[in-house]
Amino acid sequence: MNLPQWPIGNERELELLKEVLDSIQWGGYHEFIGRFEQSFAAFQHCTYGVSAVNGTVTLEMALDAAGVRPGDEVIVPAITFISTATSVSRIGATPVFVDIEPYTFNMDPDRAAAAVSEKTKAIIVVHFGGPLADMDRLMALAAERDLILIEDAAHAHGSEWNGRRAGSLGLAGSFSFQNSKVMTSGEGGILITQDADIAERARSIGNQGRRTGGGWFHHYTLGTNYRMTAWQAAVLLAQLERLPEQIRQRNHNAALLRKELAGFDGLTFQQVPEQVSANSYYLLLGRIDAARFGMTRDEFHQRVTAAGIPCTPFYPHPLYGNPLYQQGGCRVEPCPVSEACIEDAFWFPHRVLMGDEETTREIAAVIKSIAAR
Ligand SMILES: Cc1ncc(COP(=O)(O)O)c(C=O)c1O
Repeated sequence: MNLPQWPIGNERELELLKEVLDSIQWGGYHEFIGRFEQSFAAFQHCTYGVSAVNGTVTLEMALDAAGVRPGDEVIVPAITFISTATSVSRIGATPVFVDIEPYTFNMDPDRAAAAVSEKTKAIIVVHFGGPLADMDRLMALAAERDLILIEDAAHAHGSEWNGRRAGSLGLAGSFSFQNSKVMTSGEGGILITQDADIAERARSIGNQGRRTGGGWFHHYTLGTNYRMTAWQAAVLLAQLERLPEQIRQRNHNAALLRKELAGFDGLTFQQVPEQVSANSYYLLLGRIDAARFGMTRDEFHQRVTAAGIPCTPFYPHPLYGNPLYQQGGCRVEPCPVSEACIEDAFWFPHRVLMGDEETTREIAAVIKSIAAR
């Protein structure tokens, strides 16, 4: 299968990395840091960007800057990467796990509303695989119940809801640039926001409690060092230049695959609501109804990977099934959809959508032959 490796980098990264090498500022104060923060924030339709070492600490910075404190509850989806919940636990608050919708794989706004308690302070919504969660309903819920809404947009660089880009709809948005993400510097993260106070507080947390314009040895709040290096910013500036074309290519190939595989009863790809006006396609997710499809998810996964197509058989458990949360420290709402997805869902990583059209047709043909056996 002629699929590109990921990550993709070329002379442009080398050129910018060389500029850092030739400078005397390799750390977090090189001009590339500010340039990247502004460029990425603007790309996501936001005013402020605060870069950091990864997309886990940017979630902690967002919660802390927004005033979430020990004893508060934060509603999170049961299906997401562990950081969405551990960022809540690490600041001493309690994650409350709620169910997802059956085919968008995103937080179910009705389940979130049902989970709100006296202690609820915030919601972290995840845009799983790329398409935004139902932001109309989640923003309405947050406004109605006076809750902070934070977007974990680790999968959603360039994705939109009714023309508004991920991370610009909630109080703050958090992105990851870890190796598998649609733009990457190996590790890295950024918090974006429209709120000047949140931006200043987040920056202070990640920069040893300093203030913008304050002295080097003047520390005002309890901070730490989460600063991104100039090496990461150099690579990310190059990655950002390439992102729109890569998103276009993934959308083209995803549409082709979906069309080719539309006829198989029991094979359902992620539903993308019409309000999702752009989709990063970090993952192409699907579910298999074994009775209708005539094959279990595990058998499908095994056959597809044996044919050379990268595929992951979903998470092994909803987040609350991890040993960490089996010991407590969380609240768990009923999550029947999340539990069903553990058994029947899968995803193709975005690399599968980055071949040329011939390769994409080849992938479709292989999956068709597996499905039709
Ligand atoms: C949904 C989600 N949130 C947060 C993160 C954490 O990002 P990082 O690995 O950059 O810490 C990831 C992935 O890595 C993720 O998939």
